[in-house]
Amino acid sequence: MTALQAVPETSKVNPREKTARRLLGSSSRNSYAPELDIDWDAPPVSGMWHMQPERMSLYGTAVWDALTEDERIELSKHEVVSIARVGLWFEILLMGMLASHAYNQDPASEHTQYALTEIGDETRHSVMFARWADKYGGVEYKPHPIVHHLGKVFRLVAPTGPSMWAATLVAEELLDRLQRDGMADERMQPMSRMVSRIHVIEEARHVRFAREELVRAMEDAHQGPVLWFHQVFAALAAAFIAESIISPKVYAAVGLDEKAARHAARNNPNFHETKQWMAEKIMPFLDEVGMINPVARWIYRRAHLLK
Ligand SMILES: [Fe+2]
Ligand SMILES: [Fe+2]
Repeated sequence: MTALQAVPETSKVNPREKTARRLLGSSSRNSYAPELDIDWDAPPVSGMWHMQPERMSLYGTAVWDALTEDERIELSKHEVVSIARVGLWFEILLMGMLASHAYNQDPASEHTQYALTEIGDETRHSVMFARWADKYGGVEYKPHPIVHHLGKVFRLVAPTGPSMWAATLVAEELLDRLQRDGMADERMQPMSRMVSRIHVIEEARHVRFAREELVRAMEDAHQGPVLWFHQVFAALAAAFIAESIISPKVYAAVGLDEKAARHAARNNPNFHETKQWMAEKIMPFLDEVGMINPVARWIYRRAHLLK
């Protein structure tokens, strides 16, 4: 008999434990080993996209119009591994925060055991993203050094309140929107679709866990300046994530001037809309639970995560 079966379903289990049990069950039934489940040696299929062209940073601009179809496809490879590279940066931060969270909890609780299980998921995702980025030369598409250092501060401070869960949700749900759409897109490379599929399936558990924890953290949060700080801190983290997803270094891969292409992407209304679309599911939730104060709203708007 497993530990999960040992507790009768009818026993009084608190909601936090109930969720953790369900997520632990799902993790044991439905998890991937990307080293084995992805054919890493498979060459890219000629003519297929690495990410959806409409979601790329330059789509709809004059710079985009001047690129050939092959160059656009080549750029899609670099943009998608840039997103994966930034995703793995945040996942490593999250693993540190989840470990801090688990450090303060009862290890016998299923809640703690799920937090530890999620660290395991993120470890495999980070290796998967690292391998994908390395395959296509995207390891250098990391966030700006200042953002990298700010991440270390965030990792230490955020676990003291709701900003940890709010920023985690933004990172996870932005990527989820893009990957859920991409994994169903038949124009996409098989490798891109498989990476997306693995991540979407496993992240659905993380999103459930973080959404419930954010609600609990808001119930426990001190009102006043401490809450204000967490609201703004989460918005800043979200803005840095949104700004960092496409490294300006990707443009050199197709012979574009880095500065000019970055300027075009930053001022591209289509890319602004893409970011709003990626944030469309999470922003109303953050608002509903009380994580968006006027300053945070201003930051989310500046980052094009809110209209
Ligand atoms: Fe992940
Ligand atoms: Fe996750």
